[in-house]
Amino acid sequence: MQDQLYNQDDYYQKVKETFEFLKASVPFSPEIIITLGTGLSGLAEACEKAWVIPYEKIPNFPKSTVETHTGELIFGKISGKRVALFRGRFHYYEGYSAKILTFPLRVLTLFKPEIYLVSNAAGGLNLSFKSGDLMLIKDHINLIPDNPLRGTNFEEWGPRFPDMSRAYDEELRERFKKVAASLGEEVKEGVYVAVPGPSLETPAETRFLRLIGADAVGMSTVPEVIVAVHAGLRVCGISVIANVNDPDNFQPILFEEVVKASQKAEKRLTTLVVEFLKTL
Ligand code: HPA
Repeated sequence: MQDQLYNQDDYYQKVKETFEFLKASVPFSPEIIITLGTGLSGLAEACEKAWVIPYEKIPNFPKSTVETHTGELIFGKISGKRVALFRGRFHYYEGYSAKILTFPLRVLTLFKPEIYLVSNAAGGLNLSFKSGDLMLIKDHINLIPDNPLRGTNFEEWGPRFPDMSRAYDEELRERFKKVAASLGEEVKEGVYVAVPGPSLETPAETRFLRLIGADAVGMSTVPEVIVAVHAGLRVCGISVIANVNDPDNFQPILFEEVVKASQKAEKRLTTLVVEFLKTL
Protein backbone atom coordinates (compact mmCIF):
# COMPACT_ATOMS: atom_id res chain seq x y z
CA MET A 1 0.00 0.00 0.00
CA GLN A 2 2.88 2.34 0.79
CA ASP A 3 3.98 2.42 -2.85
CA GLN A 4 0.43 2.81 -4.09
CA LEU A 5 -0.17 5.77 -1.84
CA TYR A 6 3.00 7.53 -2.95
CA ASN A 7 1.19 8.00 -6.25
CA GLN A 8 -0.45 11.39 -5.67
CA ASP A 9 -3.67 11.00 -7.65
CA ASP A 10 -4.10 7.59 -6.19
CA TYR A 11 -3.79 9.10 -2.70
CA TYR A 12 -6.59 11.54 -3.44
CA GLN A 13 -8.82 8.75 -4.74
CA LYS A 14 -8.09 6.53 -1.77
CA VAL A 15 -8.88 9.29 0.71
CA LYS A 16 -12.21 9.89 -1.08
CA GLU A 17 -12.98 6.20 -1.22
CA THR A 18 -12.32 5.70 2.48
CA PHE A 19 -14.32 8.82 3.33
CA GLU A 20 -17.29 7.52 1.31
CA PHE A 21 -17.03 4.18 3.12
CA LEU A 22 -17.09 5.89 6.52
CA LYS A 23 -19.79 8.37 5.58
CA ALA A 24 -22.06 5.50 4.65
CA SER A 25 -21.31 3.62 7.89
CA VAL A 26 -20.89 6.07 10.76
CA PRO A 27 -23.81 7.45 12.78
CA PHE A 28 -22.80 11.14 12.60
CA SER A 29 -20.22 13.67 11.48
CA PRO A 30 -17.73 14.24 14.29
CA GLU A 31 -17.14 17.73 15.68
CA ILE A 32 -13.89 16.73 17.32
CA ILE A 33 -11.20 14.29 16.20
CA ILE A 34 -9.04 12.83 18.93
CA THR A 35 -5.83 10.81 18.68
CA LEU A 36 -4.86 8.85 21.77
CA GLY A 37 -1.15 8.32 22.34
CA THR A 38 0.90 5.53 23.90
CA GLY A 39 -0.64 4.35 27.16
CA LEU A 40 -3.39 6.94 26.89
CA SER A 41 -6.32 5.05 25.49
CA GLY A 42 -8.33 5.47 28.73
CA LEU A 43 -10.43 8.19 27.16
CA ALA A 44 -11.97 5.50 25.00
CA GLU A 45 -13.57 4.10 28.19
CA ALA A 46 -15.12 7.50 28.89
CA CYS A 47 -16.66 7.50 25.43
CA GLU A 48 -20.29 6.58 24.94
CA LYS A 49 -19.53 4.47 21.92
CA ALA A 50 -21.85 4.54 18.96
CA TRP A 51 -19.68 2.78 16.41
CA VAL A 52 -16.32 0.99 16.58
CA ILE A 53 -14.26 -0.47 13.78
CA PRO A 54 -10.79 -2.03 13.79
CA TYR A 55 -8.38 -0.30 11.45
CA GLU A 56 -7.92 -3.45 9.38
CA LYS A 57 -11.60 -3.34 8.41
CA ILE A 58 -11.32 0.16 7.01
CA PRO A 59 -10.42 0.27 3.32
CA ASN A 60 -6.98 1.72 2.56
CA PHE A 61 -5.96 2.25 6.20
CA PRO A 62 -2.32 1.48 7.00
CA LYS A 63 -1.74 -1.41 9.37
CA SER A 64 -0.43 -0.73 12.86
CA THR A 65 2.77 -2.55 13.77
CA VAL A 66 3.14 -1.39 17.37
CA GLU A 67 1.79 -3.75 20.01
CA THR A 68 0.97 -0.99 22.48
CA HIS A 69 -1.52 0.48 20.04
CA THR A 70 -4.69 -1.52 19.49
CA GLY A 71 -5.82 0.21 16.35
CA GLU A 72 -9.49 1.06 16.22
CA LEU A 73 -11.58 3.99 15.17
CA ILE A 74 -14.38 4.89 17.55
CA PHE A 75 -17.30 7.23 16.91
CA GLY A 76 -19.16 8.26 20.01
CA LYS A 77 -19.99 10.94 22.51
CA ILE A 78 -17.84 12.35 25.25
CA SER A 79 -19.36 15.07 27.42
CA GLY A 80 -22.16 15.31 24.87
CA LYS A 81 -19.77 16.11 21.99
CA ARG A 82 -19.66 14.06 18.81
CA VAL A 83 -16.14 12.69 18.64
CA ALA A 84 -14.12 10.35 16.47
CA LEU A 85 -11.33 8.70 18.41
CA PHE A 86 -8.23 7.18 16.92
CA ARG A 87 -7.17 4.54 19.41
CA GLY A 88 -3.72 3.79 18.09
CA ARG A 89 -1.75 5.77 15.57
CA PHE A 90 0.87 5.25 12.90
CA HIS A 91 4.45 6.39 13.22
CA TYR A 92 7.21 7.38 10.86
CA TYR A 93 9.51 4.85 12.57
CA GLU A 94 7.23 2.02 11.52
CA GLY A 95 8.29 2.76 7.96
CA TYR A 96 5.35 4.89 6.85
CA SER A 97 5.82 8.18 5.07
CA ALA A 98 4.26 11.21 6.75
CA LYS A 99 1.59 11.18 4.04
CA ILE A 100 0.60 7.60 4.71
CA LEU A 101 0.67 7.80 8.48
CA THR A 102 -1.67 10.80 8.33
CA PHE A 103 -4.02 9.09 5.88
CA PRO A 104 -6.63 8.27 8.58
CA LEU A 105 -6.71 11.86 9.84
CA ARG A 106 -6.91 13.27 6.33
CA VAL A 107 -9.93 11.09 5.68
CA LEU A 108 -11.67 12.35 8.82
CA THR A 109 -10.97 16.00 8.02
CA LEU A 110 -13.38 15.58 5.10
CA PHE A 111 -16.19 15.45 7.69
CA LYS A 112 -15.24 19.09 8.41
CA PRO A 113 -14.72 18.74 12.16
CA GLU A 114 -13.75 21.84 14.11
CA ILE A 115 -11.13 20.59 16.55
CA TYR A 116 -8.24 18.15 16.61
CA LEU A 117 -7.17 16.99 20.06
CA VAL A 118 -3.96 15.00 20.07
CA SER A 119 -2.05 13.34 22.88
CA ASN A 120 1.30 11.60 23.10
CA ALA A 121 3.87 10.28 25.52
CA ALA A 122 7.06 12.32 25.38
CA GLY A 123 10.47 12.66 26.94
CA GLY A 124 10.98 15.79 29.01
CA LEU A 125 13.88 18.02 28.01
CA ASN A 126 12.96 20.91 30.25
CA LEU A 127 14.53 20.00 33.58
CA SER A 128 11.72 21.61 35.55
CA PHE A 129 9.49 18.79 34.27
CA LYS A 130 9.01 15.51 36.05
CA SER A 131 7.64 12.15 35.05
CA GLY A 132 3.83 12.27 35.00
CA ASP A 133 3.60 15.98 34.15
CA LEU A 134 1.16 17.07 31.49
CA MET A 135 2.41 19.58 28.91
CA LEU A 136 0.19 21.57 26.60
CA ILE A 137 2.00 21.90 23.30
CA LYS A 138 2.34 25.56 22.35
CA ASP A 139 4.52 25.02 19.30
CA HIS A 140 6.53 22.32 17.58
CA ILE A 141 9.74 21.60 15.71
CA ASN A 142 9.63 19.00 12.99
CA LEU A 143 12.83 16.94 12.80
CA ILE A 144 11.10 14.07 11.03
CA PRO A 145 12.63 14.28 7.56
CA ASP A 146 9.26 14.28 5.84
CA ASN A 147 6.13 16.40 5.52
CA PRO A 148 2.66 15.01 4.88
CA LEU A 149 1.92 17.87 2.48
CA ARG A 150 4.86 17.08 0.22
CA GLY A 151 3.70 16.43 -3.32
CA THR A 152 0.59 17.53 -5.15
CA ASN A 153 -1.61 19.89 -3.13
CA PHE A 154 -5.35 19.51 -3.39
CA GLU A 155 -6.73 23.02 -2.86
CA GLU A 156 -10.07 21.68 -1.63
CA TRP A 157 -8.17 20.13 1.30
CA GLY A 158 -6.13 23.21 2.15
CA PRO A 159 -3.57 25.74 0.91
CA ARG A 160 -0.24 24.88 -0.74
CA PHE A 161 1.73 26.80 1.91
CA PRO A 162 -0.24 26.64 5.16
CA ASP A 163 0.65 29.19 7.79
CA MET A 164 2.01 27.58 10.96
CA SER A 165 2.40 30.70 13.10
CA ARG A 166 -0.49 29.60 15.33
CA ALA A 167 -0.59 25.85 14.83
CA TYR A 168 -1.74 25.22 18.42
CA ASP A 169 -4.88 27.20 19.20
CA GLU A 170 -4.29 29.67 21.99
CA GLU A 171 -7.90 29.89 23.07
CA LEU A 172 -8.08 26.11 23.47
CA ARG A 173 -4.86 26.14 25.46
CA GLU A 174 -6.14 28.83 27.82
CA ARG A 175 -9.43 26.97 28.16
CA PHE A 176 -7.60 23.74 28.99
CA LYS A 177 -5.46 25.49 31.59
CA LYS A 178 -8.56 26.97 33.22
CA VAL A 179 -10.22 23.57 33.38
CA ALA A 180 -7.03 22.09 34.85
CA ALA A 181 -6.80 24.86 37.47
CA SER A 182 -10.42 24.31 38.46
CA LEU A 183 -9.54 20.67 39.15
CA GLY A 184 -6.40 21.60 41.05
CA GLU A 185 -4.17 20.20 38.32
CA GLU A 186 -1.06 21.95 37.10
CA VAL A 187 -0.30 21.74 33.40
CA LYS A 188 2.97 22.83 31.86
CA GLU A 189 3.33 24.39 28.48
CA GLY A 190 6.12 23.93 25.99
CA VAL A 191 7.59 23.17 22.60
CA TYR A 192 7.40 19.60 21.29
CA VAL A 193 10.07 18.34 18.94
CA ALA A 194 9.34 15.32 16.74
CA VAL A 195 12.25 13.04 15.94
CA PRO A 196 12.14 10.12 13.51
CA GLY A 197 13.02 7.38 16.04
CA PRO A 198 12.82 4.52 16.77
CA SER A 199 16.15 4.72 18.59
CA LEU A 200 15.96 7.06 21.55
CA GLU A 201 18.16 10.12 21.85
CA THR A 202 21.79 10.10 22.89
CA PRO A 203 22.91 12.57 25.56
CA ALA A 204 24.46 14.75 22.82
CA GLU A 205 21.25 14.73 20.80
CA THR A 206 19.33 15.61 23.96
CA ARG A 207 21.63 18.59 24.53
CA PHE A 208 21.02 19.66 20.93
CA LEU A 209 17.24 19.38 21.26
CA ARG A 210 17.31 21.54 24.39
CA LEU A 211 19.50 24.09 22.64
CA ILE A 212 17.10 24.47 19.73
CA GLY A 213 14.29 25.29 22.13
CA ALA A 214 12.39 22.08 22.72
CA ASP A 215 10.81 21.19 26.06
CA ALA A 216 9.70 17.68 25.14
CA VAL A 217 10.67 15.10 22.54
CA GLY A 218 8.65 12.39 20.88
CA MET A 219 8.19 10.42 17.69
CA SER A 220 4.70 11.41 16.62
CA THR A 221 2.06 14.15 16.51
CA VAL A 222 3.76 16.71 14.26
CA PRO A 223 2.76 15.10 10.92
CA GLU A 224 -0.86 14.91 12.13
CA VAL A 225 -0.84 18.49 13.36
CA ILE A 226 0.43 19.69 9.99
CA VAL A 227 -2.49 17.93 8.27
CA ALA A 228 -4.98 19.28 10.82
CA VAL A 229 -3.74 22.86 10.39
CA HIS A 230 -3.77 22.44 6.61
CA ALA A 231 -7.41 21.34 6.85
CA GLY A 232 -8.28 24.38 9.00
CA LEU A 233 -8.87 22.57 12.31
CA ARG A 234 -8.16 24.17 15.66
CA VAL A 235 -5.50 22.03 17.34
CA CYS A 236 -4.99 21.20 21.00
CA GLY A 237 -1.98 18.99 21.78
CA ILE A 238 -1.03 17.43 25.09
CA SER A 239 2.13 15.53 25.96
CA VAL A 240 2.40 13.27 28.93
CA ILE A 241 5.97 13.59 30.17
CA ALA A 242 6.91 9.97 30.68
CA ASN A 243 10.62 10.41 31.41
CA VAL A 244 12.96 13.36 31.80
CA ASN A 245 16.25 13.34 29.91
CA ASP A 246 19.07 15.28 31.52
CA PRO A 247 22.10 15.27 29.19
CA ASP A 248 24.45 15.72 32.15
CA ASN A 249 22.99 12.86 34.12
CA PHE A 250 21.56 10.68 31.41
CA GLN A 251 19.51 7.69 32.46
CA PRO A 252 18.61 4.81 30.15
CA ILE A 253 15.15 5.28 28.61
CA LEU A 254 13.24 2.02 28.74
CA PHE A 255 10.20 1.92 26.52
CA GLU A 256 8.29 -0.25 28.99
CA GLU A 257 8.87 2.46 31.61
CA VAL A 258 7.60 5.08 29.17
CA VAL A 259 4.39 3.12 28.66
CA LYS A 260 3.99 2.58 32.41
CA ALA A 261 4.54 6.26 33.19
CA SER A 262 1.98 7.42 30.65
CA GLN A 263 -0.51 4.81 31.84
CA LYS A 264 -0.11 6.26 35.31
CA ALA A 265 -1.05 9.71 34.01
CA GLU A 266 -3.91 8.35 31.92
CA LYS A 267 -6.66 8.79 34.53
CA ARG A 268 -5.75 12.43 35.17
CA LEU A 269 -5.57 13.22 31.50
CA THR A 270 -8.88 11.47 30.84
CA THR A 271 -10.62 13.48 33.59
CA LEU A 272 -9.15 16.71 32.25
CA VAL A 273 -10.19 16.00 28.68
CA VAL A 274 -13.72 14.99 29.74
CA GLU A 275 -14.09 18.28 31.65
CA PHE A 276 -12.45 20.25 28.84
CA LEU A 277 -14.89 18.85 26.28
CA LYS A 278 -17.81 19.91 28.50
CA THR A 279 -16.74 23.53 28.10
CA LEU A 280 -16.69 23.46 24.30
N1 HPA B 1 12.42 10.35 23.47
C1 HPA B 1 11.65 10.18 22.37
N2 HPA B 1 10.40 9.77 22.41
C2 HPA B 1 9.87 9.50 23.60
C3 HPA B 1 10.61 9.66 24.79
C4 HPA B 1 11.94 10.10 24.72
O1 HPA B 1 12.66 10.26 25.72
N3 HPA B 1 9.78 9.32 25.82
C5 HPA B 1 8.59 8.99 25.26
N4 HPA B 1 8.64 9.10 23.92
